[in-house]
Amino acid sequence: MHLKCVECGKEYPMDEVRYTCDCGGLLEAVIDLDKVEDVFDGRDITLWKYQSFIPVKKRISLKEGGTPLYRVRKIEHVAVMRELYVKNEGANPTGSFKDRGMTVAISKALELGMKKVICASTGNTAASMAAYASAAGMESYVIIPEGKIALGKLTQAMIYGAKILPIKGNFDDALNLVMKASSEMGIYLINSINPFRLEGQKTIAFEIYDALGYVPDNIVLPVGNAGNISAIWKGFRELRDAGFIEHLPRMIGIQAQGAAPLASAWKEKRDYSPQPSPETVATAIRIGNPVNWKKAWRAVKESGGFLETVSDEEILMAQKLLATKEGIFVEPASAASLAGLLKLREQGEISGGESTVLITTGHGLKDPEIVVRIIKIPEAIEATEEMIFEVLR
Ligand code: F0G
Repeated sequence: MHLKCVECGKEYPMDEVRYTCDCGGLLEAVIDLDKVEDVFDGRDITLWKYQSFIPVKKRISLKEGGTPLYRVRKIEHVAVMRELYVKNEGANPTGSFKDRGMTVAISKALELGMKKVICASTGNTAASMAAYASAAGMESYVIIPEGKIALGKLTQAMIYGAKILPIKGNFDDALNLVMKASSEMGIYLINSINPFRLEGQKTIAFEIYDALGYVPDNIVLPVGNAGNISAIWKGFRELRDAGFIEHLPRMIGIQAQGAAPLASAWKEKRDYSPQPSPETVATAIRIGNPVNWKKAWRAVKESGGFLETVSDEEILMAQKLLATKEGIFVEPASAASLAGLLKLREQGEISGGESTVLITTGHGLKDPEIVVRIIKIPEAIEATEEMIFEVLR
């Protein structure tokens, strides 16, 4: 197993600290697919079940993965679809899919003898890194855009013991600073430019195949820094290259209208360019220059998929629909996947006969403030039987 540049093909060993190629290209782990095991029996689905696909030994785990895959029949009805599922990543230990990447990246950090880890974050990466770093006995540092992190995520990162450095800038500024700090100061970089993060996140593909016993037609998910869509695509490709499956799904990425550098380039059929001042209610994906954009672009293109945008209103409506119809409470960024699906059904770009899995990436309780903005908390009434009966009648 080794790392390989997705641009020039140059190879590097896995036992050195390296995030990108000398040419600047993104790196990808190449797995020995002739040595992987057939564990796809639909039983005991957990991330480390797929150990033979993961280029690191399990060292630090909080029992991530094995998240529920729900058949959402009421929303199938709303969207007039034959087969729709939600893979709910909010059920991970710190409440987001980041835990999958973190168990592998922090295990790798230990393997490399690193003592400190750092990330830029819109919140979830910070919370997850902080938890796994604590479990590993490492110091963790987080650079975040001031005032733009959901309260749940910030409190998590703090209680797990991370050092938080808010900056007067956005996520993209934070990531640039973190990349500099990690290379100058020898702190291990945990953002998804680190190829080992994606090695954990690709297990979402394995779990979907393991649970269903086949590969769905479409995977729909929110796109921010564009790591997850790249990772899941890699997972499906490896399943095919190892001979387990033949059919690959279409990868469909959804971005918020106000933070859509990739989706707008795709829709306008032009080259990618960063978006200077991203803005959306879905703070998790408030990103103007996704570091993995090239991998994501390839995933969408190779899979015959596409990218779409949704408005903040559509996101909040989808969040409410998922909670009230199916009992699944997700954060706004995650609801972008359902908002996108509904839009694509309306436009006819996904047909009713296709099977689709929506990835909901983070738990709703991460961002209670957003819900409080759209719901009305009832005022207290007198504590009398008459009043209660009156209201319940
Ligand atoms: N959904 C949630 C809930 C997220 O937290 C993120 C990314 C995404 C979707 C997008 O995933 O970046 O792989 O395309 N959050 C990062 C963070 C950026 O810092 O927590 P992506």
